[in-house]
Amino acid sequence: MLISADVNTALNEQIGHEFAASVQYVAIAAHFDCEGLPQLARHFYRQAVEERDHAMRFVKYIVDADGRVEIPAIPAPRARFASAEDAVQLSLENEMTVTKQINALMDLAIKRNDHITRNFLEWFINEQLEEVSSMDTLLRMIRRAGEKGLLFVESYLAQHRKVHDDAPPVEQES
Ligand code: FEO
Repeated sequence: MLISADVNTALNEQIGHEFAASVQYVAIAAHFDCEGLPQLARHFYRQAVEERDHAMRFVKYIVDADGRVEIPAIPAPRARFASAEDAVQLSLENEMTVTKQINALMDLAIKRNDHITRNFLEWFINEQLEEVSSMDTLLRMIRRAGEKGLLFVESYLAQHRKVHDDAPPVEQES
């Protein structure tokens, strides 16, 4: 086994955190869907898929390192939100928590001189910067628009997605 028992345990806990984030985003997306805000719903359904992908990266890594995958119980997500701001504020707080969890994992890998895990975690360190930053931007936008101005946020997300979808594909190195 390429990783120590305590690193293996911490990685398994993180699988749980990533799946928990995924189901929380599904709950938030469904809330927006029910509120007639399809772009916000789509945004969070996509986030949910990303979090599942994060969990699967940890699963694959543990398997590759010849460790043991033990997925913990996933807590029920919060399902009721007082406002769009409330839901996105929760999302930002969750991303900040995940950032701390990834940092703690990195601290453990460094303490164990586990350079393979450290290298694996680098991707997540960069990803958290992007996720916290984009969630913070969305929260600021929602605060500025107010509950009555959420259609502006919908319009922004639709436009942003169109620009993103129309962008030329990134060239692959040969
Ligand atoms: Fe997997 Fe958004 O952290």
